[in-house]
Amino acid sequence: MDTNAPAPGAAPTTAVSPVPTPQEARRRVMVLFGGRSGEHAISCATAGAVLRAIDRERWDVVPVGITTQGQWVLAVDDPDRWAITDGTLPFVPGSDGDVVLPMASGERTLQVIEPGQVPSAIGDVDVVLPLLHGPFGEDGTLQGLLEMSDVRYVGAGVLASAVGMDKDFMKIVLAGRGLPVAPWTVILPGRWERDEAGCRAEIEKLGLPVFVKPARAGSSLGITRVADLADLPAAIEEARRHDPKVIVEQGVVGREIECAVLGGRAGERARASLPGEIVVHGDKHAFYDFEAKYLDESSVELTCPADLSPELVERVRELAVRTFEAVGCEGLARVDVFVTADGDVIVNEINTMPGFTPFSMYPRMWERTGLPYADLIDELIELALERPTGLR
Ligand SMILES: Nc1ncnc2c1ncn2[C@@H]1O[C@H](COP(=O)(O)OP(=O)(O)O)[C@@H](O)[C@H]1O
Ligand SMILES: [Mg+2]
Repeated sequence: MDTNAPAPGAAPTTAVSPVPTPQEARRRVMVLFGGRSGEHAISCATAGAVLRAIDRERWDVVPVGITTQGQWVLAVDDPDRWAITDGTLPFVPGSDGDVVLPMASGERTLQVIEPGQVPSAIGDVDVVLPLLHGPFGEDGTLQGLLEMSDVRYVGAGVLASAVGMDKDFMKIVLAGRGLPVAPWTVILPGRWERDEAGCRAEIEKLGLPVFVKPARAGSSLGITRVADLADLPAAIEEARRHDPKVIVEQGVVGREIECAVLGGRAGERARASLPGEIVVHGDKHAFYDFEAKYLDESSVELTCPADLSPELVERVRELAVRTFEAVGCEGLARVDVFVTADGDVIVNEINTMPGFTPFSMYPRMWERTGLPYADLIDELIELALERPTGLR
């Protein structure tokens, strides 16, 4: 009901916008997490951290979870519920009440539909904060859904998300813009069977070792370092367990340096943090693999700021911003590079929804650059509110 409507029979008055109370002035933020990808639990843990840190005086928070089956449900607004405690992985439970997204352009009201009940509105969502990694979250599909309804959201748009997710297209775009990437070749679905000799010839030209990767995965899943051509078929099969499209990349010997990028305000250029470094200790891991990332954290050291010369720091930051721009990113991205002994900087990849717990590299790099976690969340939401919907 519109409580601002004049009482029946009252004299017409000039419409005056009521002064919003602090409560009304708060913008409504949908914190969206969980999802259908293998990184469901990590996403829940990130949401827990964000729900704990987000400024409630400023933002009216609506937590919405996506189950592993893809059902959207209203989620409990309790940071502890979504934390990883005693090794138990959190997940979004199914519910009788489905959250229904607005589907018409300009219609931003969220509905909850329960079987046999009148649908109820949660109210207008001003901005969505998608804390989702991988397919159906970070790859442009969710972004397309939100674009259809003119709903603002944090982070990269449809194309940049899709390009960032597909390592083949990511490298095509970066190379096309003249940015340094390691040489690679792509094995499209079915090609290995049709033309193994052709594939092998291209791979041999790259030299050994090579890295065999699923084109669209993350967390190092399905990646093998191949130092002997006899191991190639097994590595390709492993990558294909995650994606029918595979890339094979020349191995780079260098330090693994990461840089956090934030979109610019009001037409300004994007901003880059101080770089950080990943060091994997010992011989247990041939590279920064899945185990080193999540299961054997004692063998990994995340350092920020990275111990680099001021000149290299500036080159890494500049390259990170140019990578962000080349892909047409918005909001945030983490750009990962290799720095070789000769001082060459080569882009490994761009992540459009990087790990985002307070212990993850992206927030830590901003913290060291002077932007604490809660302020970073504010800034991301402000950036999303500021940007227009539609073509931009
Ligand atoms: N061309 C390469 N040369 C050397 N190491 C690599 C190369 N590609 C990947 N790696 C190693 O594998 C890890 C994961 O590869 P990456 O392409 O970043 O995939 P993901 O998207 O799964 O993180 C990197 O952090 C690095 O340790
Ligand atoms: Mg990576």
